[in-house]
Amino acid sequence: MKQLITLRINGVDEGLYVEPWWTLSRVLREELNLIGTKEGCGGGHCGSCTVLIDGKAVMSCLYLAMKARGKDIMTIEGLQGENGALHPLQEAFIEHFAVQCGYCIPGMIMTAKALLAENPNPTEEEVRAGLSGNLCRCTGYVKIVEAILSSAEKKGN
Ligand code: FES
Ligand code: FES
Repeated sequence: MKQLITLRINGVDEGLYVEPWWTLSRVLREELNLIGTKEGCGGGHCGSCTVLIDGKAVMSCLYLAMKARGKDIMTIEGLQGENGALHPLQEAFIEHFAVQCGYCIPGMIMTAKALLAENPNPTEEEVRAGLSGNLCRCTGYVKIVEAILSSAEKKGN
């Protein structure tokens, strides 16, 4: 039976009815229309569904929405600045031509955001290790890593 819960998403409290087995990715996309979060494998293998929960990168396809009560959830939509300004990481991805089909990119950027919050000056190896749970089917890893390193250099995290 559905239960009424409140989720804090991108700084806003959202009240909604959820089934106990609904994943956070399902609720974000299908109940709240936050379709920036992508679902690829649905099983914890690709990282495309990554969001931040209390600042940590989490695969939302494996995370029950009920469990997210009382936590701070940030999706790719939450990176938007005033008047729709892009986040520096998003700018860096564009500048470095790191986006091909784009499907993996929200997950890559949210993972990068958590990574740079923990380690503002990562080496290339550290960035690669940090992204090891995120797959890009277009295999654009070189540009993605370059974009993250450049954003770190500019302190754009
Ligand atoms: S959709 Fe969540 S890890 Fe692939
Ligand atoms: S840009 Fe296409 S999957 Fe990564």
